Amino acid sequence: MTVPHKTDVAAKLPANQQHLLRFWEDLDDAGRRRLAEQLAGIDFELVDSLYHDEVDQPDWAELSRRAEPPTAVRLAERAAGTVTPLGVTPEAARQRGVEALRAGEVGVLVTAGGQGSRLGFDRPKSLFPIGPLSGASLLQIHIEKVRAVAGRYGKPAPLYLMTSPVTHDDTLHFLQENKNFGLAEDDLFVFCQGTMPAVDAKTGQLLMEAKDSVFLSPDGHGGTVAALEKTGAIAHMNRRGVKQVFYLQVDNPLVPICDPELIGYHLLAQSELTSLAVAKQSPQDKLGNFALIDGRLHVIEYSDIPDDVAERRDAEGRLVFWAGSVAIHVFETSFLQRALRLKDSLPFHIARKKAEYVDESGELIKPTEPNALKFERFIFDLLPHAERPVVIEYAEEESFAPLKNAPGAARDTPEYVQRLMLEQHRRWLEAAGARLAEGVQVEISPLAALDGEGVTQLVQPGVRFDEPTYLRPPA
Ligand code: UD1
Repeated sequence: MTVPHKTDVAAKLPANQQHLLRFWEDLDDAGRRRLAEQLAGIDFELVDSLYHDEVDQPDWAELSRRAEPPTAVRLAERAAGTVTPLGVTPEAARQRGVEALRAGEVGVLVTAGGQGSRLGFDRPKSLFPIGPLSGASLLQIHIEKVRAVAGRYGKPAPLYLMTSPVTHDDTLHFLQENKNFGLAEDDLFVFCQGTMPAVDAKTGQLLMEAKDSVFLSPDGHGGTVAALEKTGAIAHMNRRGVKQVFYLQVDNPLVPICDPELIGYHLLAQSELTSLAVAKQSPQDKLGNFALIDGRLHVIEYSDIPDDVAERRDAEGRLVFWAGSVAIHVFETSFLQRALRLKDSLPFHIARKKAEYVDESGELIKPTEPNALKFERFIFDLLPHAERPVVIEYAEEESFAPLKNAPGAARDTPEYVQRLMLEQHRRWLEAAGARLAEGVQVEISPLAALDGEGVTQLVQPGVRFDEPTYLRPPA
């Protein structure tokens, strides 16, 4: 690319964004090219109308007030083993899921666009060494589960891993260094999501993160749909005969990846989008809320639901909006394809956040208070567009321990996540008849046993663990 002229670049910028060329004279050719390229990719009209609140923003407070709880298959109904409200037994669902997995029709989609900033980790969150004894990264644990699923059902489940411009290179490098943790080349498709600029909350002007660079952040996991198409991931799914996609976010190592019962309900209900829910412990839980609004299923984000609605209880004192979203879904691939037509109509959510930026004098400012507006799309805003969506309750301790916070927070810290992992592995081992001495930590690699069922084949009843042990398959 030749070096663009400042006047040409300026001509394409709106009057209130000319400050983006403030440092043009200080830049070398590479810097000028870089900045011009970034600016060419930005939809200034959209950003401006988002800032001025001209883009239709749903009024979540009003919508929440007329929302109803979703219909769902509850945990107790699954445990009873009898016919669920979907008209099928848990066992029938499980068998149907197993069939789909044996046919190789299921893929896995992991969103890993986030930095570990809230965690105080300056690399992609997916690289965080969470294994309590192994030090295995979040990414390694997910990949080992995907490989274990392939081993159990005899067909690979291709893994679609979404990064963002902030995490892409580090993630690719980490995968290369570790030989994709044993995944075959064609079973791993890494793709990068898009970005949105952040604006100064007071003026609507785009922030710059350096003299030659606009502050851009990932466009939210709602960007997944557009990115799947743009990068050829959808084409890869079609080539591989992937009909259902099991979706998860990288921060949660407890996800029961490709759980056959969940996939089975999805298939037997002919659902386009099935979601796993956990029962909220308190109205303030930082979980999106599944809710029916005008007969369509939605997730109302925890930051959007008014307190009085979140706190509503039924006659027995139970939370009305009990169903918390843990960002685990099963998508029909055909629905994802249909959603491509909807991708531009997904609403933007606006968040006030702290963003470091370069001021008029070129100095890097580190704000102590939120100074910026960021715009993100959320994947769960596809829910109201899905036909026959289904919500299935799982136990939190078997499905949800997200790594979000630095040590010291009440939950979702590294210690919290590791404790939940170890407790789960202890439960599985004890159920299989093993005995673990008090306080002894045993971690199980998914390659040694994927779940409780796998553990029964791994250990003999009566076996004792008196020392910390990492159970993994022989090298
Ligand atoms: C999210 C959900 C919330 C859910 C909770 C469960 C949103 C907006 N809310 O909250 O409903 O109950 O998780 O853990 O998602 N990510 C990307 N690209 C992006 C943005 C996020 O890949 O542009 C990935 C991140 O890597 C991260 C995950 O999505 O793993 C969650 O994002 P985060 O911002 O941490 O959402 P939460 O506020 O925790």
